[in-house]
Amino acid sequence: MNNEGVDTSKRRFLTASLTVVGAVGAGFAAVPFIAAMQPSAKAQAAGAPVEIDISKLEPGQLIVVEWRGKPVWILRRTEETLATLATLEDRLRDPDSGESIQPEAAKNKSRAIKPEFFVSIGICTHLSCSPTFRPEIAPPDLGSDWKGGFFCPCHGSRFDLAGRVYKGVPAPTNLEIPPYRYLSETRIIVGEESEEVA
Ligand code: FES
Repeated sequence: MNNEGVDTSKRRFLTASLTVVGAVGAGFAAVPFIAAMQPSAKAQAAGAPVEIDISKLEPGQLIVVEWRGKPVWILRRTEETLATLATLEDRLRDPDSGESIQPEAAKNKSRAIKPEFFVSIGICTHLSCSPTFRPEIAPPDLGSDWKGGFFCPCHGSRFDLAGRVYKGVPAPTNLEIPPYRYLSETRIIVGEESEEVA
């Protein structure tokens, strides 16, 4: 019985040693891969581009990533949202985005390279608060003519779901669109200019 007990504990020790070696080996192998996919915090702060997988984004969903220390929104818009954008122009200060900051490839009505995916810097152009995502239609606190958009709680600026500012609010210009481009159908990179022309 005693001998069996010793043998068992030796086997356990060997098994544990192999597990640790395996884990260390995997760790060394994984680090360069992760480093290549994800720029370091220092590199990101300095402006390194950020790659984003949009394959899991549901219609109507918004995700936030960080680029150059700023929030960047990626919103997957529905057909209804895109149709609504066209009905708002009379109420907007700069519906064609003539005075706004955006890359060439996003100078169009939907302010996007592909209308379905809206990419924007999530900072109010008034005094830099972060607007909230309010996709609901006519919620009580925003009024019966609210068609879904972004609302800045600091001083009440309103933007539509293309980041276009409404008339009569403190924000002077539309939300800024960062440089970005598609790496594939499901991946975009923020921080690199697209060569496409709108
Ligand atoms: S900072 Fe957004 S309205 Fe003033």
